[in-house]
Amino acid sequence: MLSHTLISLLGLAATALSQTANINFYDTDDICRSGLFASCTNLPPNSCCALASNQLATCMDFATTTPGGIGTAFSSQGGNQCAVVLERLSSGVCVCPNGFPVISGGSWNTSASRRSMDDKPCETTIQPNAFGWTENESTWMVYNEDEATYTNVADAVANGTAKTDIGKFIREHGQQV
Ligand SMILES: *[C@@H]1O[C@H](CO)[C@@H](O)[C@H](O)[C@H]1NC(C)=O
Ligand SMILES: *[C@@H]1O[C@H](CO)[C@@H](O)[C@H](O)[C@H]1NC(C)=O
Ligand SMILES: *[C@@H]1O[C@H](CO)[C@@H](O)[C@H](O)[C@H]1NC(C)=O
Repeated sequence: MLSHTLISLLGLAATALSQTANINFYDTDDICRSGLFASCTNLPPNSCCALASNQLATCMDFATTTPGGIGTAFSSQGGNQCAVVLERLSSGVCVCPNGFPVISGGSWNTSASRRSMDDKPCETTIQPNAFGWTENESTWMVYNEDEATYTNVADAVANGTAKTDIGKFIREHGQQV
């Protein structure tokens, strides 16, 4: 009986650990259908995916396989990139709060963590780990495991290089997904 309980608790822990989502931040006011975006892939719940302090996104979408997962788009305050709730969204939805670059971070919650962690803010802050480019319904990604390519894109974004040039670079050096 005891071992049975232990096994089911371990099973629960494994399920909880594997709950992740992808959050994407888009520069273009095009309902997440085109252009450059920064991503947190495999983002655990209750973590703030924070854009760099001088970067703001116009639209955000979020996707998780966890039923009932809810994403949140934030604007910043006092250096906290996940300070002010702009919008809550279900998995698979794109939000562009007012069509201007105002989003500084995003997070998501499972319905279970919403119940047990009321009032608990994001526990950790995570930087985006990928960049993407969507054009004509096709998407290419550059992940930070490919350090040289990723750094190149991150520098270009920070430098204010033209988005179409960054897109071309991602198409040429990234992987189509
Ligand atoms: C999770 O949901 C609760 C209740 O809605 C909220 O207080 C908390 O801030 C949320 N956490 C995150 C990281 O969004
Ligand atoms: C997307 O479509 C436009 C218009 O047809 C074309 O000019 C452009 O080269 C296409 N981009 C890619 C990456 O195929
Ligand atoms: C960004 O700017 C720095 C400093 O001006 C420069 O050294 C670097 O090559 C630039 N990187 C890209 C990708 O444009």
